[in-house]
Amino acid sequence: MRHLCNDTLVTVVNGQFPGPALEATEGDTVVVHLVNQSPYGITIHWHGVKQRLTCWADGAGMITQCPIQPNTTFTYRFDVSGQEGTLWWHSHVSALRATLHGIIVIRPRSGTYPFPKPDVEVPVIIGEWWQRDLIKVDKNFSIGGSFDDNPAAATINGKLGDLYNCSGVAEDNFVLDVEPGKTYLLRLVNAALFSEYYFKVAGHKLTVVGADASYLRPFTTEVVAVAAGETIDVLMVADAPPCRYYMAALANQPPVPDPQIPVFISRGVVQYNNIPSDAQNCTEKSPLMPEMPDQHDTITTFYFHGNLTGLQQPGGGHPLLPQVRGRVDERLFLTLGKGSMCTHNKTSCKRGGSNESFEVAYINNVSFHLPETTAVLEARYYGSGVAVEQLPSMPPRAFNFTDTALIPVVPGGKMEELEPTRKATTTRRFAHNATVEVVFQSTATMQSDSNPMHLHGHDFFVLAQGHGNYDAGRDVRSYNLVDPPMKNTVQVPRLGWAAIRFVADNPGAWFLHCHFEFHIAMGMATVFEVDSGPTLETTLPPPPSDLPKCTR
Ligand code: C2O
Repeated sequence: MRHLCNDTLVTVVNGQFPGPALEATEGDTVVVHLVNQSPYGITIHWHGVKQRLTCWADGAGMITQCPIQPNTTFTYRFDVSGQEGTLWWHSHVSALRATLHGIIVIRPRSGTYPFPKPDVEVPVIIGEWWQRDLIKVDKNFSIGGSFDDNPAAATINGKLGDLYNCSGVAEDNFVLDVEPGKTYLLRLVNAALFSEYYFKVAGHKLTVVGADASYLRPFTTEVVAVAAGETIDVLMVADAPPCRYYMAALANQPPVPDPQIPVFISRGVVQYNNIPSDAQNCTEKSPLMPEMPDQHDTITTFYFHGNLTGLQQPGGGHPLLPQVRGRVDERLFLTLGKGSMCTHNKTSCKRGGSNESFEVAYINNVSFHLPETTAVLEARYYGSGVAVEQLPSMPPRAFNFTDTALIPVVPGGKMEELEPTRKATTTRRFAHNATVEVVFQSTATMQSDSNPMHLHGHDFFVLAQGHGNYDAGRDVRSYNLVDPPMKNTVQVPRLGWAAIRFVADNPGAWFLHCHFEFHIAMGMATVFEVDSGPTLETTLPPPPSDLPKCTR
C-alpha cells in the first residue's frame, strides 16, 4: 500500500485493510476458514468472544494453539452467544495485527435492542499506519524496546486523513455521509498497537450505549476515550446544521519524564447531504474541527471510564447481564510495571539504563515467557510439555507503587534497586465456577503508562477504579456491586488501580495481558487456567483434529 510517499508491504486478510467485517446474530455459530498465504505463522484471536467450551478456537498464539504455518489452513468454529454489540478480531502472533484486524458485529436475535433502533450502523476502527517491519518491531520490544519504533500515522478505518500528506497532497479521509435527523450507531474499535485514543465529532454529542459487546446505561458526552483493545458503541444523531464536520481520533500519552512518542491524530469527515449553498457556518471551505483534549490529559479518560455503568435493572435487568456475585473465592493483587534483566542470562549486572541490562514488563515482578514448542492449553490437556509456574497472588514486595520518582531510568536512580525481574511462563489455576477478584495496580516503575488489561474467554465486571495505591480497607467501599459495566478490557488508570470480578466458568487456558503491543512483547501477561466442571456441558472438549502442529 502506498501512503506518505512510501510503498509499504503489508499483510492483510482478503486484500482489505482493515480486514473484512464478521457480522453475526447472537446465538450464531461462526465458521472461519483461514488459508495462510503469508510467509508468517498466523493465528486469529476473536477478541472478546466468550468462546464457551471452545478455548481451542481462541487463537492466542502459543497459549491455545501453535501458529498456522504458511501455505496451511485451519478452521475456527465457535458460537457467539450471550453477548451483543461490537467486538473485533486480530492476529495474535506478533505485531502483524497492526494490519490483520477487523470488526465483529453481533446483532440481537429478536427485537430486544434496548435503545431506539439506529438508522445506520458505522464501524469506526481506529488504528495505526506502520512503515516498519512488524516482525522486527516485536523482536525489538522483546529485547528491551526502542522508542524509535513508532507508527507513521494514526488511521480511521484505514485512512490516514488530511493531517497527513505526501509532498503536499493530503491523504484521504474516512467520509461518513449523513442525512439530517437520522441516528447513527458508531461502533468504535481501538485496534492500535500503542495508544489509547480520544474521539470527538465537531458539532455533535455522542450517547454511549455499549462497550465490549455489553450494554451500558446510556450517557451523553462530547468526548469518548477508547483504550487499546476496547470497543465503545455510541449513538450520534445528525442534528447539526447541514455542513461538514471533522471527526478526530487523538492518541494520549503520559507526560515527561515518561519517554515520549510523536503526536498521533487522524481525522475523518461527517458530511451532510444537500448542504444548501447559502447555509450558515458552511461558508468556510474547511469542515469544523472539534477541540480535542490535550495529548497528555489522562484525567478525561479516567472520568469517561468511571462513568460507565451496566444496564442491569432493579429486579432483573437485561437478560444478558447477570448480577454481581457477592462471594469471592480467589483474590489477586497484580502490579503492572517494568523492570530489567541482565543480558546473556547473567544474574547480576549494571542497571539504570546500562546496556548490560534490558527492560522488560511484568505482572507481580515476573515477565511472561511465551512458550516456544507447545501451546499452554495443549500442554495442559496432554499433561506435559511446558514448564509453568504459579503466578504469585501478590507482588514480592510492597513499595510506593505510584511514586513518580521511579519513572526516570538513570544510573543510581530511585528505581534501580527495584529493577531486577525474571522471566517465566506463569499461570494461575482456578477451580470451575470460582469467583475471582483481581485488583490491577499500575505502577510508576520506569514509566507511568495506563494498562489496558484484557482477559480472554471471560467477561468481567469492573467494580471500581482509583488514583494512587490501592488500599483494600478504604477502596472496597467504592465498589459498584449493583450495576457495574461488563467488559473484556479494563483501562487500568495511569498511576492508579482498577478492581474486576468474574466467574471462572469457562474451562481452558486464557491469556491475560496488557493490550499495548510493547507491553505484551515485553512480558506484561499471564495465563488463567480454568478447570472443567463435573458435567459434559462444563468440560472442555478435545482439540479439533486440524489444530496446527508446532514445527519448531
Ligand atoms: Cu485483543 Cu490477547 O488480545
